[in-house]
Amino acid sequence: MAGDERIEELRRRKALAKEGGGKDRIEAQHGKGKLTARERVGLLLDPGTFVETDAFVEHRTTDFGLDAKRFPGDGVVTGHGTIDGRTVFVFSQDFTVFGGSLGEMHANKIVKIMDTAMKVGAPVIGLNDSGGARIQEGVISLGGYAEIFFRNVLASGVVPQISAILGPCAGGAVYSPAMTDFIVMAKGTANMFITGPEVIKAVTGEDVTFEELGGAMTHAEKSGVAHFAADDEKAALRTVRKILSYIPSNNVDDPPVLESDDDPNRADSELATVVPREPDKPYDIRDVISRVVDRGSWFEVHERWAPNIVVGFARLDGHPVGVVGNQPKVLAGTLDIASSIKASRFVRFCDCFNLPLLTLVDVPGFLPGTAQEYGGIIRNGAKLLYAYSEATVPKVTVITRKAYGGAYDVMCSKHIRGDFNFAWPSAELAVMGPEGAVQIIFKKEIEEAKEPKKREKELVLEYRDRFANPYIAARMGYLDDVIEPPETRPRVINAFAVLRTKRETRPAKKHGNIPL
Ligand code: HXC
Repeated sequence: MAGDERIEELRRRKALAKEGGGKDRIEAQHGKGKLTARERVGLLLDPGTFVETDAFVEHRTTDFGLDAKRFPGDGVVTGHGTIDGRTVFVFSQDFTVFGGSLGEMHANKIVKIMDTAMKVGAPVIGLNDSGGARIQEGVISLGGYAEIFFRNVLASGVVPQISAILGPCAGGAVYSPAMTDFIVMAKGTANMFITGPEVIKAVTGEDVTFEELGGAMTHAEKSGVAHFAADDEKAALRTVRKILSYIPSNNVDDPPVLESDDDPNRADSELATVVPREPDKPYDIRDVISRVVDRGSWFEVHERWAPNIVVGFARLDGHPVGVVGNQPKVLAGTLDIASSIKASRFVRFCDCFNLPLLTLVDVPGFLPGTAQEYGGIIRNGAKLLYAYSEATVPKVTVITRKAYGGAYDVMCSKHIRGDFNFAWPSAELAVMGPEGAVQIIFKKEIEEAKEPKKREKELVLEYRDRFANPYIAARMGYLDDVIEPPETRPRVINAFAVLRTKRETRPAKKHGNIPL
């Protein structure tokens, strides 16, 4: 073969690989409102940066007539490129080839980019659109999944792993995304479930649609499996890019710093009035967060699930931080099972990837009730205590109002190694709220009073004067300072700047035993 013919041959082969499952299947894919694997990669990465690997890989199965059906690439597009100039590795399942199903060689391609990503310290992004294990390959495809699962675990805490679910993702296949750091689902086209509607109908008799069972909104609101529900595929890919803008490429890098045009010394006078004077009146903790962080930098994670706690990324003078805040607007900001799980996972992510933690506290305690107790609030609330105690990244805490009981300790108190703990003058730190407290410690006195209601009111006021303020804690050094709300931004920016060189270690161990 002459030289130019060889080049022709190479080009022909590459062009064939780009066709995936062929024109008809691509049309069908578009017809379902979905993009192709390559179109998605093009939208995800910086234009023109994608370098494909393993485009010529094919399956080697002969069973069920598969030897007659071969597609170069074997149903997954893999390679690397950049997002905002930083290297990322990506795999994008191609539904037009065997329904994106995963067999031996498809899995090998994914495993290869995961191994390289870990070696070079770059994030792995998975674009999932697959019918699951390739049925014709039997147990070999299960082995392929397990090789991926194992690497998800090896990579956890080493490089960020982000999953976009853009089509079906069913059965055991869900466990790879489940072990990644963030899941973004596209509304209308993405589905995740262990057993589908038909099996559920047969086993439990329940009637449920694909969307109700495992759609984006279900997982963003009900199960918490999805961190983000995007309006469509393009929005999902934009969300992946946005997540990466706050986080480093690996566990030894620092998060990317952006130039900020928001004055670090900006005092926000609105903060003086955001907390209502009445202790039981709700307010939106996001009104505090957005006034403290760099303007426009607040990016909420898990917005719809467990909304009694708010978590997300933001920047302070251009430096990314993770923010956790109790949300007085929902369930009075109490901690319950879901909110404890949500916040602990976020705290652990931030600790893995060197993101300092800003914690805003307004928590009346743990949510009472048999549902919580039977569901294991003891075990689950402990997760958050564990996660905060374990975290060695810079930790700054601001108590805006209530910090009662065990929840005071949990919410990054000084005792579990908050580095700088501040409170507003409206802060109330005590074992419990005044109303409950006087009922217990003055029960007899109230019962025996001439006017029990009046006496109770007086005692509540006394208790409030004595305990429901920040000064006893400040006297003990549990708070480093009581600050005026408008100066919160400059004070936390200063605190994090001082902490930038923080070094702290925990006793060496194989791993701890977080109460799962
Ligand atoms: C091989 C598959 C496949 C699979 C789909 N295809 N799933 N081939 N193995 N798992 C093929 C189809 O034969 C078809 O090929 C093409 O992909 C498109 O599929 P359609 O059914 O036409 O598409 P659609 O109507 O959109 O339905 C998509 C679907 C459905 C809902 C995903 O295909 C489906 O239910 N597939 C099976 C899902 C499943 O049960 N998978 C195993 C789950 S258990 P042609 O040639 O006609 O285009 C699992 C275990 C993982 O994954 C365990 C890990 C530990």
